[in-house]
Amino acid sequence: MKFLILIAILGAAATISAQDITTLEKIGPVVSLQRTDKGVTLNCHDNSQVQISILASDLIRVRASFTKPIPTRDHSWAIAKEDWATPRWTLNETSDSISITTDELEITIRRSPLLIEFRDARTHQLINADEQPMSYDAGGRLANMLFDPKAGMFVAASKKLGFDEHFYGLGEKAARLDKRRSSFVNWNSDTPGYTEGKDPIYQTIPFYIGLQRGVAYGIFFDNSYRSYFDFGKSSQQRAWFGAEGGELNYYFCYGPSIKKILGRYADLTGHMPLPPLWALGNQQSRWSYYPDSMVEEVVSEYRKRDLPLDVVYLDIDYMNGYRVFTFDKQRFPDPKALTEKLGRQGVKVVTIVDPGIKYPPDKNERYHAFDQGLEKNFFQRRRNGDLFVPRVWPGESVFVDYTLPDARRWWGDLHRVYIDNGIAGIWNDMNEPSDFVDQTGKNQLDVVSYDEGEKTTHAKNRNTFALLMSRSTYEGLERLRPDRRPYVITRAAYAGIQRYATMWTGDTNSTWESLALTLPMFTSLGLSGEPFVGSDVGGFIGRGNGELLVRSYQVSFLAPFCRNHKVIDGYDQEPWRFGKHYEDIIRKYLKLRYTLLPFLYTTLEEAHRSGVPLFRPLVLNYQDDPSTYNLDDQFMVGDDLLVAPILKPDVTKRLVYLPAGTWYDYWTNKKYSGGTMISVDAPLDVVPMFVRGGAIVPVGPSVNYIGEKPVDPITFNIYPDDAGSASATLYEDDGLSPAYKTGAFRRTSFSVRRGQRGLVVSTGVPEGTYNPGPRKFNFVVKPLGSVVSIVDDGKAKQVQLK
Ligand code: GLC
Repeated sequence: MKFLILIAILGAAATISAQDITTLEKIGPVVSLQRTDKGVTLNCHDNSQVQISILASDLIRVRASFTKPIPTRDHSWAIAKEDWATPRWTLNETSDSISITTDELEITIRRSPLLIEFRDARTHQLINADEQPMSYDAGGRLANMLFDPKAGMFVAASKKLGFDEHFYGLGEKAARLDKRRSSFVNWNSDTPGYTEGKDPIYQTIPFYIGLQRGVAYGIFFDNSYRSYFDFGKSSQQRAWFGAEGGELNYYFCYGPSIKKILGRYADLTGHMPLPPLWALGNQQSRWSYYPDSMVEEVVSEYRKRDLPLDVVYLDIDYMNGYRVFTFDKQRFPDPKALTEKLGRQGVKVVTIVDPGIKYPPDKNERYHAFDQGLEKNFFQRRRNGDLFVPRVWPGESVFVDYTLPDARRWWGDLHRVYIDNGIAGIWNDMNEPSDFVDQTGKNQLDVVSYDEGEKTTHAKNRNTFALLMSRSTYEGLERLRPDRRPYVITRAAYAGIQRYATMWTGDTNSTWESLALTLPMFTSLGLSGEPFVGSDVGGFIGRGNGELLVRSYQVSFLAPFCRNHKVIDGYDQEPWRFGKHYEDIIRKYLKLRYTLLPFLYTTLEEAHRSGVPLFRPLVLNYQDDPSTYNLDDQFMVGDDLLVAPILKPDVTKRLVYLPAGTWYDYWTNKKYSGGTMISVDAPLDVVPMFVRGGAIVPVGPSVNYIGEKPVDPITFNIYPDDAGSASATLYEDDGLSPAYKTGAFRRTSFSVRRGQRGLVVSTGVPEGTYNPGPRKFNFVVKPLGSVVSIVDDGKAKQVQLK
């Protein structure tokens, strides 16, 4: 019996429940407070301290230290902006409570017990409230259940769960869009072939959005230890979050709109820089194309078949025995000649770079990356001083301690070999970090990183490893090629990753279930500050078929990252592999993607500037409409395109929800009134797609790669709303250099209104200094077919449409 109980306890690890949270020590009541310009510090009866900092009128930081003062050291790898101009705020004290009021928020702190409540300053409506005081596990009650009982003290915050509260975000989870009634763990893990419910997977983004009755708030729990989020799974009363160490340190952000919260989250953790425009092109990969002649063959097949392609990937077999920063001399004798040859066909090459640096088995073997790193003492070591030697693709390997600034610089500079050989971007994989000896991370618990002199272990640093690796790569590319935007793609991540890398969702399956999961995964990532997302088109593991591949493209042709990729022993799945019928349909969608580039790039730039992603769940655009709250088999691109893909085999018809407003069927221009569900035909060559009435969708010429032809003419497809109005902006820049950051872009606004003799188009005076030169603009009223053309010379114009 005792044995069984022991098994039950061991088996219970990682499933801390809401009930367990109630058993923790609670922070003591407030006994006094100090006010500063930036907020207040509360002193508690048990010597705990809580700092409430007012960063903006809608952004508050709550930082608690249990039974001791708040440490002076305050550091996070995720935070991009630390200096905030404190807005005006007032403090009010009564014997029971303390209130802080900004223009947008009213924060009431009950003194005893210490409970924090956030309300709308104007309506006084409750947004979010503590369900119990912030708590900590001083007595080690949860020790048996923790992954790493030595990591520190478990800390937790518990919030009242609204009866109708919905939860979004939390980064990359193999889960549905609305996270209500679910719980999750964050611990970056290599999880090939994951299916819905597998948790954790590759990334940690401890940020979520709560939405109740149309009012949204965001919470970013900036703690990189193994963390837990429970949105009402183990209790009807509470949604709680906690971590196995570190500080209880969270940022509360008020909307009420989700878009506003995403903007604030981007201000806090960094805005995604624009990748090069070619990153929006179609990409082809496989583990692994080699030798060089096979890479050439793939590209020439694309060109022969009139299929668009911008990028091809070299997976791990391009290297000399999996040694990063080398090329295999037999397989790739002249990488520079290869990249130049492909470059002439409009194709860039991206190479994989894993974190494992091969540990030379023979002491006499020289490998520059190992030798230099060892000499400079840049590799991670265990607490006892031994090198940490995980096993990855090269066999025994070592990892760089990316918390060391000099190591980051060295790592970045090692990429010169790629730049010199014409490699256009870097693919950072296996950076959870994966270790074949033990994928759980247990084997890494005594691995120490410098961590700004704190010398902390992987309990804290595992989840930020990929963030710092991507940062080192990004900053290296930036230094090595300052006139080009870096392009980095990563598998693992921590909050803030958008500053350095785009991402893909790792090793999916070539199954319909996996395809259906990509939708809520992409949209949730977008709601977590990661706009540039994608998934292996067709699925990574296993054998797909033509139908699955076509339906996969019908999702990914509108995802920011569109790359077909396959495992080494999987059945081939380049667009032509299942015959002409499927290939023709895939061609149609890839071509459509390329004509839509002016629209996609404009929407991507919006994501860079505002934090609002390109690939969106409907709830992001229609948060007042409860029909969108758990709708995750449809998505939107920007504000204007609504797509309802087919996610099951043998299905050629589906129900589509159209939110209130006017909608046009993209294929037929048939007009619909929204606020209802309609049934739509979807034979294999059709993905149901609708355009919002009031939209203008800019499209460019049909091309097979970016830069093949000038973007001329640009056709503006106008879909008027019921009042005959429509509007849009078009964003353009050189697509390659960072000059857009200093004003070298062109943003032109367009509007359409009903005049006496028909519709009138007005073009605004463009903003920015980028000048694409004169080109033709066509304006087409889609449902009517009327067309008018002008020459765009950067001047404001009015044009009459018949
Ligand atoms: C990992 C990656 C996959 C890659 C493979 C070999 O499984 O997720 O994309 O092909 O490693 O490098």
